[in-house]
Amino acid sequence: MKPLARRMKTLAPYLFADLDRKKNEALAKGVDVISLTIGDPDLPTPPEIVKAGQAALENPANHKYPSYAGSPAFKKAAADWMQRRFSVELDPQSEITALIGTKEGIGHLPFALVDEGDVVLCPEPGYPVYAIATRLAGGEAYNLPLLAERDFLPDLDAIPAEVLRKTKALWINYPNNPTGACAGQEFLVKAVELAREHGFVLCADCAYSELTFDGYRPPSVLELPGAREVAVEFHSLSKTYNMTGWRVGFVAGNSQVVGALAKLKSNLDSGVFNAVQEAGIAAMNLWPGHLDELMATYRGRREVLVNGLRTAGYEPPTPQATFYVWMPVPGGDDQQFANRLIEEVGVLVTPGSGFGESGAGYVRLTLTQDEKRMQEVVERIKRVGIGQD
Ligand SMILES: Cc1ncc(COP(=O)(O)O)c(C=O)c1O
Repeated sequence: MKPLARRMKTLAPYLFADLDRKKNEALAKGVDVISLTIGDPDLPTPPEIVKAGQAALENPANHKYPSYAGSPAFKKAAADWMQRRFSVELDPQSEITALIGTKEGIGHLPFALVDEGDVVLCPEPGYPVYAIATRLAGGEAYNLPLLAERDFLPDLDAIPAEVLRKTKALWINYPNNPTGACAGQEFLVKAVELAREHGFVLCADCAYSELTFDGYRPPSVLELPGAREVAVEFHSLSKTYNMTGWRVGFVAGNSQVVGALAKLKSNLDSGVFNAVQEAGIAAMNLWPGHLDELMATYRGRREVLVNGLRTAGYEPPTPQATFYVWMPVPGGDDQQFANRLIEEVGVLVTPGSGFGESGAGYVRLTLTQDEKRMQEVVERIKRVGIGQD
């Protein structure tokens, strides 16, 4: 067989594929592994949503190919949700497209925006797909470090002029994965201004916009004056409604960009299964429904983990949003720390450097185990006394 495409040589295994391997090795040795890695809720999809999906599954009309960009009903439900949640008015037809999960849309977007040599500005540490998809599309990913001393916001003033000249898009993601950081209005205004000044697309990934604590409500960039001319937002139903397996989300905002992504996608995929769209409509109509209860659950876990680790001498911050705790590692070697945790006490965490070089020295712990298991994590970490010597 002739060799695979050159791009496969530089394509590393997806971060979580490698962590899965480590988990399976430990499980094969009979270890009771507690995994705090991938951001996959352990709780079920709310029953109202499941019921809507079941009813839709029974309807033969839904067994056919769906419409490429999403059903009119799904897009209207998404527009209504954007209205209720952010007071943003969108035209469902031209300013919204359904996605097979936002990962799909994030992965495809650069193929609609980027030519060889164009730049996409990507937060680092960050969700890996921004940079990987940019490179696969022939573009160049320019890293924007997210550092503790800047509250994990990129320094937009530090981007060189020659980079801005080649820039086609800027990714922002607040509340942030993996740092759990949130962005204030001032930062968002600045990002919109920069995008307008340099004529690039501002892409806001809002996967965690609803997973917030203590009454915090992140805004949409689309609320800001002039944003509609440059910005698109990616909204996922995965984390808000415990629907990671269903694969559904949407992109909203600038019609030229939404239209380009829809056109690209219509050439590559055939849309979201209609029954899943129906479940998605039920989910968006349910909002904010189950969220108080969901966030109370995550809050309880957060307290057990954060307080427990503090009594053990660690310094985890208390995240204001997301279900991630971004904890500095005593001694600073995140890979070694993560390896010791899985090998010695069967706790799997994600080394921060897996999200980019500025993530070195941190681990990400996910609040997707119940309080009892969280307490067990704390006990195990205490038992080995990692970082306490
Ligand atoms: C920041 C961020 N964006 C997007 C996604 C993708 O979500 P989905 O494809 O399930 O909508 C994730 C999933 O972990 C994420 O963390």
